[in-house]
Amino acid sequence: MSPVEWSQIGGLSEVKGQIQQAVEWPIKHPEAFQRMGLPCPKGVLLYGPPGCCKTTLVRAAATSVNATFISLSGAQLYSPYVGDSERLINEVFQKARAAAPSIIFLDEIDSIVGKRSESSSNRGVQERVLSSLLNEMDGIGIKLDDKLHTAEKVKDGEITSSNLEKGKSYKAENRNVLLVAATNRPDLLDDALVRPGRIDRILYVPPPDEEARFEILKVYSKKMPLKNVNLEELSKNTSLFSGADLQNLCREAALHALTDSLESTCVTMEHFRQALLTVEPSLTKSMVETYSNMLKRGS
Ligand SMILES: Nc1ncnc2c1ncn2[C@@H]1O[C@H](COP(=O)(O)OP(=O)(O)OP(=O)(O)O)[C@@H](O)[C@H]1O
Ligand SMILES: [Mg+2]
Repeated sequence: MSPVEWSQIGGLSEVKGQIQQAVEWPIKHPEAFQRMGLPCPKGVLLYGPPGCCKTTLVRAAATSVNATFISLSGAQLYSPYVGDSERLINEVFQKARAAAPSIIFLDEIDSIVGKRSESSSNRGVQERVLSSLLNEMDGIGIKLDDKLHTAEKVKDGEITSSNLEKGKSYKAENRNVLLVAATNRPDLLDDALVRPGRIDRILYVPPPDEEARFEILKVYSKKMPLKNVNLEELSKNTSLFSGADLQNLCREAALHALTDSLESTCVTMEHFRQALLTVEPSLTKSMVETYSNMLKRGS
């Protein structure tokens, strides 16, 4: 996985904070959860419209916690070349435990355990995949007993550097594994997966509002030699553009500048206007409404 810095993500400051809390805290500070009498989250789901940064956010979180990152896709699971999908799931969780702290990332999880094929012959495989996934999830989590034991010893006054070192190695032995999933079709997920003790933290990654669009445009035009480009105006005129669309818009504008002349030294507002003629928003009003209704229903 190529590293992604938080600064490469425009806007979404609220979601960034929520993800730091949901992904970084359990991995970096499991003992703090224990101290507060909170169970450590086992699974986090990000949902929201396509092209609006879910995958990128997870990669940024993984970069910043510096944990083992294992990504599993529907294509891998159902590939005729891979063989037994249950075995693959089992291997992934084993690998994650062995190399903990780890994040197992199920991107586009609807393609892994969606309700899509209710009548097709695929159903049997999907059910088996779902049940082995649930099984594995029930087995993950963080066993803190050993670690607490050490912490207590430390409290009793035996604070020596070797003790602290010991604490560290205990931490490495814990089965510190977090499942992170992303989807743009949360409605397709099996209820058994999204319930307390399994995926119990659900975060909505919204389409960018005007302010976020401005930030995203800034990210993607940062290295371009802009001349008289009004990014505020562009962010006003790009409602229903996803982050991916805005990235595309910047690229197209720069290409228009080069089309004018390969000797061009700047990208102007006119180039952006030309780009706006061809780059269309990929979100629709009804799509955005559907997602915000899901949010209201609390799903
Ligand atoms: N807020 C943002 N800031 C910077 N880049 C963004 C932002 N939103 C989207 N992008 C860019 O758009 C592209 C698509 O984003 P990403 O793959 O993370 O979307 P997604 O939500 O996972 O979409 P899908 O549901 O289709 O999987 C990436 O190149 C990403 O960097
Ligand atoms: Mg994605």
